[in-house]
Amino acid sequence: RKATTLPRLAQMHARGEKIAMLTCYDAAFASLLDEAGVDMLLIGDSLGNVLQGRGSTAPVSLDDMVYHTTCVRRGVKWAFVVADLPFDSYHASREEAWKSSAALVKAGAHMVKLEGGGWTAETVRFISERGIPVCCHLGFTPQTVTSLGGFRVQGRDEAGAARMKRESQELIDAGAAMLLYEMVPAALAAEITAASPVPVIGIGAGVGTSGQVLVLHDMLNITPGKKPRFVKDFMTGKDSVKAAIQGYVTEVKARTFPVDAVHGF
Ligand code: KIV
Ligand code: NA
Repeated sequence: RKATTLPRLAQMHARGEKIAMLTCYDAAFASLLDEAGVDMLLIGDSLGNVLQGRGSTAPVSLDDMVYHTTCVRRGVKWAFVVADLPFDSYHASREEAWKSSAALVKAGAHMVKLEGGGWTAETVRFISERGIPVCCHLGFTPQTVTSLGGFRVQGRDEAGAARMKRESQELIDAGAAMLLYEMVPAALAAEITAASPVPVIGIGAGVGTSGQVLVLHDMLNITPGKKPRFVKDFMTGKDSVKAAIQGYVTEVKARTFPVDAVHGF
């Protein structure tokens, strides 16, 4: 088995081979996910909710992200490692964004992810041109949940959908190596994926994207409280965590997860 690279992910996108991604925050899970065939691991700032018990991702620091990225990377042999730029680590200037991105790369990330379209294009260009691949998180963006007015599906109306398509193109033109859509109508995500030269990962974005991501603790059914519609429990009925992860990989690759009528919008 060869290590997953950016060209390999682009090839999977071009061939319609689905990409399986999960969040991961430590070395033990990293090694287990890697062995189970997960293509990409995301050190998500969701660790603010999942590990730190916070109500939002806004208080997560760059140091938190660096620490968990270091832990994850130690457990990885093959998977492609993506780390989130946390809130207030890339907003003030392109130079600040570069410094934060470089810190994550030094900790072991292959790629960084940031939230937002529009204003982020010049930041994406600045970081990409200097040699760090960038994934752009669009649709519902948890760091700006207050501005968005709550946990809402994005791009439902015509104007919103048109803006999303325009922003995707702007970010691709700026050098984005990957897009990630959260909570958008399945038909819109499928249309954007079909037109995109780079892989598009979805969460609550239907089966038509190049790949899927879920929060690890959600799909293992150990997150307390009510889960979002797009989450599926892969643990129940399995006799090990590894079997649950393998089940997720199998279903993503076979396109049997997600089911648009059940998990989509
Ligand atoms: O932080 C995170 O876990 C994420 C995924 C939900 C995409 O950004
Ligand atoms: Na995130």
